[in-house]
Amino acid sequence: MQNPIIANRHQALFNQMADNSIALICAAPMQYRNSDTEYPYRQNSHFYYLTGFEESASIAVFIKKQGECQFILFCQDKDPQAEQWTGPRVGLQDAVEKFGASFAFSIDDVKVKLPELFKGTSIVYYLINTDKDFERKIFLSIQTLSKKVRQGVVVPHQYIDLRVILDENRLIKSDDELQLMRKACEMSAHAHMKAMQQCQVGMFEYELEAILLQEFYRHGSRYPAYSSIVATGNNACTLHYTRNTAQIKNNDLVLIDAGAEYQYYAADITRTFPANGKFTKEQQSIYELVLASQTAAIEQVAPNTPWDNAQQTILNILVQGLVDLKILQGEVKTLIEEKAYFPFYMHNSGHWLGMDVHDVGEYKMQGTWRHLKPGMVFTIEPGLYISENNLNVEEKWRGIGVRIEDDIVVTKQGFDVLTKDVVKTPAEIEKLMKSR
Ligand code: GLY
Ligand code: MN
Ligand code: MN
Repeated sequence: MQNPIIANRHQALFNQMADNSIALICAAPMQYRNSDTEYPYRQNSHFYYLTGFEESASIAVFIKKQGECQFILFCQDKDPQAEQWTGPRVGLQDAVEKFGASFAFSIDDVKVKLPELFKGTSIVYYLINTDKDFERKIFLSIQTLSKKVRQGVVVPHQYIDLRVILDENRLIKSDDELQLMRKACEMSAHAHMKAMQQCQVGMFEYELEAILLQEFYRHGSRYPAYSSIVATGNNACTLHYTRNTAQIKNNDLVLIDAGAEYQYYAADITRTFPANGKFTKEQQSIYELVLASQTAAIEQVAPNTPWDNAQQTILNILVQGLVDLKILQGEVKTLIEEKAYFPFYMHNSGHWLGMDVHDVGEYKMQGTWRHLKPGMVFTIEPGLYISENNLNVEEKWRGIGVRIEDDIVVTKQGFDVLTKDVVKTPAEIEKLMKSR
């Protein structure tokens, strides 16, 4: 029996495909670390979204001809000898019986079977410029079929990026998806709290990373949604610092940006806290400024408001605060226009979140920022990063890096913060750390 969630996704795809068209998508290839040792395998998100199928070496094909729709899966045959080494394969029979394929073919037969499937279709949807090998297979198949045009065979002549359909479908999360995202966010929230509680001056960043991973795995996550960032002191000023090898010093702030992936859905949380459990005066000033900007940006989330409201709110508050702290001098409006904040805040307010941490979906439509809709999920993650090398600011501010990041779902009434379980105010953080 096919999973009804996947069946709905097929229906949505078929509804958007033109008549007499074909859509193809290839599983993520296995990547090798060296010789025959693989990297952990993680299915391509689009492929998993459409199939629920987790094996590499598979191709999903969707054909719509004269209103008739078919889903065909190429996958690996059962092979007891190979399965002895790498585990059970679904095989062709269960591809039909459990994954809802109308037909299943062996991946070894692609060269022979694929050209036949293009017959009578005029439009091809695929993920353009993603997988060169697969792209070659598509064009070789069409070339093979083209040899039969004089016999009246119709071959495709138009190519459309399948992302145009899938990105938009994935952008609005269903209740089932939101349930998985809530779970990813909850386990990630617990992991952040554990790391805060167990942090001690003198530990290495990777020891905190180990605490995060243990919490993720304990709750059923199989991978982090991205490489965890555990950055002490000035390392926090490197936005995507993932080396995680430094020793945590007294009076450092520790920035942790980490989230679990749970059943293909990502969480993305950042918290920043004092290594010794107590913010210094300067650290607290910067922290409270970032927090004020984040709180204000979250509170104005509502359906039908433009995507860039968050960034505008954050910029107004951060720049006013930097002026108040005498880190920037001048008129707030001019400083924003001239991007004077850029040495301290050099990224956007956040990004879509879903199966991928930087999830799919356009941010602008016809040149203007798109408006939020219920079911969209995204991060709000302002930060201030004052590098130890920034000689334009007083020494007391240098080496302070703060980011605060939460995951927000737009609801009919406004918003819900999926990551609200992690403490966030300086008082809450210090209280939690005191209980160590
Ligand atoms: N963790 C990456 C990001 O926050 O965008
Ligand atoms: Mn993020
Ligand atoms: Mn993040």
